[in-house]
Amino acid sequence: METKRLLTTKSDIETAGKILSNGGLVGIPTETVYGLAANALDEKAVKNIFKAKGRPQDNPLIVHISRAEDVYGLVSDFCDSAKRLTEKYWPGPLTVILPKSDKIPSVVSAGLDTVAIRLPENKTARDIITAAGVPLAAPSANLSGSPSPTSASHVLADLDGLIDAVVLGENSKVGLESTVITFVSAPPKILRPGGITYEMIKEIIPDAEIDKAVLNEMKADETPSSPGMKYKHYSPRSRIIMVESDKDNFIKFITEKRKENSNIFALVFDSDLDDVPPPCLSYGNEQDQNEQAEKLFARLRELDEQGSEICFVRSPKKQGVGLAVYNRLIRACAFEVIKI
Ligand code: TXA
Ligand code: MG
Repeated sequence: METKRLLTTKSDIETAGKILSNGGLVGIPTETVYGLAANALDEKAVKNIFKAKGRPQDNPLIVHISRAEDVYGLVSDFCDSAKRLTEKYWPGPLTVILPKSDKIPSVVSAGLDTVAIRLPENKTARDIITAAGVPLAAPSANLSGSPSPTSASHVLADLDGLIDAVVLGENSKVGLESTVITFVSAPPKILRPGGITYEMIKEIIPDAEIDKAVLNEMKADETPSSPGMKYKHYSPRSRIIMVESDKDNFIKFITEKRKENSNIFALVFDSDLDDVPPPCLSYGNEQDQNEQAEKLFARLRELDEQGSEICFVRSPKKQGVGLAVYNRLIRACAFEVIKI
């Protein structure tokens, strides 16, 4: 099929809304990453998301709404702590998991009795949801397993010809997928860190916890709290390996490695660029976790474009949004870490 390129004009947003309400698939900008949207109440449309992405059937989708009050029809219980958290951080990069109502088709929740709901901040995203007139199920708009798209061109690189349209909006500002927190367990648990940080959540819900799968590899016989945790994620084709070290030790390490193979890539911080010769990319300022989040997925795609086969990456700090950066990188590295 031909994938239509739509702009963010009023008439193109209406076109996107029509395609969606008629059961089509549209790539849409959000502040976290681009989403691949379909009418969440249309089982057939939702099934096509799984087909286009090559997504495993047991990995549930997030349902996107454009007004906070729309959550009520979609969940069977909106607990007090979820209410307080969403009042503070919606619209924004926050997804809450709650018991689902009968309105949600089981293909959306992959057979679970819970549903993930998010109210995005990006205005174009909310305008598209409003134009569609229905809640939108939307995973990240990448082929399953590859890095999430933070620009419309990333979406087209993966899905051109496989979806009805893409809205050519702005690049995603946060750059990593939303924070996912479940209220089905007590205390509430963060299943995926993101732009709304653990520290921000603790201010509202002091007993909130971080699921152990956020930082640790799941064993083969463990059942994850979130099906998405068990899949290899965010991976470029290049093998990447995390190096936990300071700048000086990293430079010594990569210099030694390049004696064996001069094509070894490095993914580092801006202040390392003068001292680590090419092939080398930076994912931002070492002290600026928001910048690292914004740039990470684009850099992982660039590694492939530049022909990297093996890349050593300097690990980020785990505070604030850095926890989310680390969480995505450690998965992209398939938990391969060298500590110096
Ligand atoms: O920022 C985002 O969240 C983006 C944009 C497009 O909104 N969407 C996104 O969707 O990242 P996706 O499908 O790539 O990630 C959804 C994650 C998966 O790890 C999935 O397993 C988890 O949320 N999830 C969804 N519903 C769930 C549920 N009922 N219980 C547990 N985990 C759930
Ligand atoms: Mg995804």
